[in-house]
Amino acid sequence: MFNLVKGTHDIILNEADKYTYVEQTLVQFAEFYNFKEFRTPIIESSDLFQRSVGDSSDIVRKEMYTFLDKGDRSITLRPEITAGIIRSIVNNKLLALGDYPVKAYYVGPCFRYERPQQGRYRQFNQFGIEIAGVTSPYRDVEAISFGYFALKLLGFENLKLKINSLGDDESRKNYRDALTKYFASYIDQMCDDCKDRYKLNVLRILDCKVQEDQEIIKNAPKISDYLTDKSKDYFNKVLKSLDELGIEYEIDDGLVRGLDYYSDVVFEFHYTSSKGLSYGALGAGGHYNKLIGEIGGPKDCEGCGLAMGIERLVSVMEDDQLFDNLDDSLDCYVMPLSMEYQSDALNISSSLRLNGFKSEVNLEGKSLKAMFKKANKLNAKFALIIGEDEIKTNSIICKDLSSEQQESVGIQDLIDYLDSHIGSDEEHHHECGCSSNHEGHENCCCHNHENDHHCCHEHGQEHECYNESKKEN
Ligand code: HAM
Repeated sequence: MFNLVKGTHDIILNEADKYTYVEQTLVQFAEFYNFKEFRTPIIESSDLFQRSVGDSSDIVRKEMYTFLDKGDRSITLRPEITAGIIRSIVNNKLLALGDYPVKAYYVGPCFRYERPQQGRYRQFNQFGIEIAGVTSPYRDVEAISFGYFALKLLGFENLKLKINSLGDDESRKNYRDALTKYFASYIDQMCDDCKDRYKLNVLRILDCKVQEDQEIIKNAPKISDYLTDKSKDYFNKVLKSLDELGIEYEIDDGLVRGLDYYSDVVFEFHYTSSKGLSYGALGAGGHYNKLIGEIGGPKDCEGCGLAMGIERLVSVMEDDQLFDNLDDSLDCYVMPLSMEYQSDALNISSSLRLNGFKSEVNLEGKSLKAMFKKANKLNAKFALIIGEDEIKTNSIICKDLSSEQQESVGIQDLIDYLDSHIGSDEEHHHECGCSSNHEGHENCCCHNHENDHHCCHEHGQEHECYNESKKEN
């Protein structure tokens, strides 16, 4: 037996269904915003993160999984995905023609050597978006509103959007000077980390979590007093637009974010579950005015984006029973009455699956009683029983496991039979076209009805959804 590496976790079985559901909902919603998928490597050159996330950040100073490969190159397991996405956009010259913006979304694992605790892992998954080539504050609003409405779509009701402006370069320079002056008389009494931060990037002191330091930080100058008119105007435009979209926010002038690439607007989504638990920020992001240029892209090209922690989303959704509609039932459980009918049972299951019915078959030679037990355990809607008589008459017994009614159905009529019996809500079933029994429109991925924002976790991919017309063809 081997133990899990500290701070990692297996995502398996029903838990994995929840991850898939969350990721697919976010992915499908991102496609409504015309974001395109990017898959970048998990390993990147260490200097990519030193340059972007920043040498003064806790992530680069303490949390990166960095090693030398066999060619003596310094490699890092990505602690976040933004830097890799921008590197990829630059390397692939996607901004070269000034055809702005490039809109990317991504999902995948990240690695940070942090102290594991509630909502904090050493390997965790992020979903995120980046907009490279931002020339209007309303692109920032687009990113924020994407995050806000995506979380609403997943069922998060009492979201708290915290927002702040870090200003442009001039605002931050003035602010840094003010902070340096302010902390000069306190720094000797502060924690060792803050002493380092004072030298590296005084702004990072505002991230300190040490209780005694908090008292000093509380009275430090506020960034809002150092914003240039240009930055103030930018921030106000963003806030006004959020008001217009009905997105509630709270200005938090202590919000500076732990990554060095931000400028102007930064934000975080917070949520407390019904159990009163908070898992930290569910998602966060902001605007970056230098990152693209520093990674080798056009100097004046700005961007913005956000990322969400899938582990945190799943934990809160479990606490608040937001997965209750997740349907893990089977349509059919095919039960051969003896070993000799196993290949017929397999053939029937194959045909059911190709026609869009989620099916399992018993190929373990179990007794009828044991097979019924299994069918119930798997939450099957129908038990399909095949024995000697059925083989002779080219038929199958279909038993509805909720009504306990059963009848013999000719094999050639089986698909039509199941079509008309599975899905107690006929209207939904036909409108949607899926052969699977959806509770309602909202969880179906088909595009032929009004409320198609949600993906169907059962089908995984939209094109795997079999509709009536496909069946007829
Ligand atoms: P971040 O705030 O470092 O930002 O991470 C984004 C989200 O990832 C957090 O809000 C949290 O939900 C999740 N997360 C971070 N660390 C952990 C952890 N150790 N365990 C579990 N979940 C975690 C970024 O990474 C930026 N790249 C976001 C961004 C995109 N900014 C602009 N574009």
